[in-house]
Amino acid sequence: MKVNERLQEYALMTEQALEQALHQANTPFDAYNRLVEAMRYSVLGGGKRIRAALCLEFCRLCGGNPVDALPFACAVEMIHAYSLIHDDLPCMDNDDLRRGKPSCHIAYGEAVALLAGDALQACAFKTALNACQVPAEQVVKAVELLAKCCGYEGMCGGQAMDLDAEERPVDHETLAEIHAGKTGMMILAAAQMGCLAASSTKEQLKAAEEYACEVGIIFQMVDDVLDVTATEEELGKPIGSDAQCGKTTYVTLFGVEKTMEYATVHNERAKNALSVFGEEGTFLAEFSDYLLHRKH
Ligand code: IPE
Ligand code: IPE
Ligand code: MG
Ligand code: MG
Ligand code: MG
Repeated sequence: MKVNERLQEYALMTEQALEQALHQANTPFDAYNRLVEAMRYSVLGGGKRIRAALCLEFCRLCGGNPVDALPFACAVEMIHAYSLIHDDLPCMDNDDLRRGKPSCHIAYGEAVALLAGDALQACAFKTALNACQVPAEQVVKAVELLAKCCGYEGMCGGQAMDLDAEERPVDHETLAEIHAGKTGMMILAAAQMGCLAASSTKEQLKAAEEYACEVGIIFQMVDDVLDVTATEEELGKPIGSDAQCGKTTYVTLFGVEKTMEYATVHNERAKNALSVFGEEGTFLAEFSDYLLHRKH
């Protein structure tokens, strides 16, 4: 199966599961209904779902049924959507467009956007804990991993460092830490939660970690490149946002060409990490190529 076909299939499965996990509210209380509407606005009907795809594919690779990992994939996508809502707020990157639509705070106001992010985070944990096809001890491990990867030791920590690094020089080492935190850790969570859903071996978990760390670097490097090379229509989010915020990125440190050269090296490392999976690892090897060459 071609990488695009399987990605589409995984995205469709995830969309349906997200719809199930977060129903529209129809209470007599408008403000409550509107909060749920803002959550659904940000989590449904958009996004490449690359984290969900990683989670489902690692479950399959480790001998599980991807359907069993859907609650984990949804949880990761909910946290990711919340991180994007907050990332776009005026106090962070101040971006008005996300996934081709007005950002959540533009559509619903800042206070509702803040709460929609908070509530999506809580909903993510509820959803992950409802993975009823996964043995309870694996669910506990997966939820602990998710908490670590999205919190101060992961995404939030990286986002704090990212903001702190605005308008001042940042060296390569610090930038790599920022990327690993703000982007890499949620990609790691997605991959390893997929393994845990299939009660994987330690060796498989380790391979997933190595692969995800490399893919996380590629992903954010390409994100930084697209911020200067793509169009707003292609990305569905504003271009030039990094420069406007005075961010140091791989592009400001090394330029587009060198950044893509570095990303190519990480792509080779990502593929090497897949050796334990043999032939079955082909999709993830192609997936890493896809992330390197993506245009949106
Ligand atoms: C954007 O992530 C934010 C970063 C971590 C760079 P994606 O490019 O995966 O966003 P969606 O989910 O496809 O919109
Ligand atoms: C955001 O990185 C990472 C998270 C949301 C955790 P960016 O700020 O580069 O993401 P975009 O470019 O706005 O999607
Ligand atoms: Mg940001
Ligand atoms: Mg941003
Ligand atoms: Mg960006």
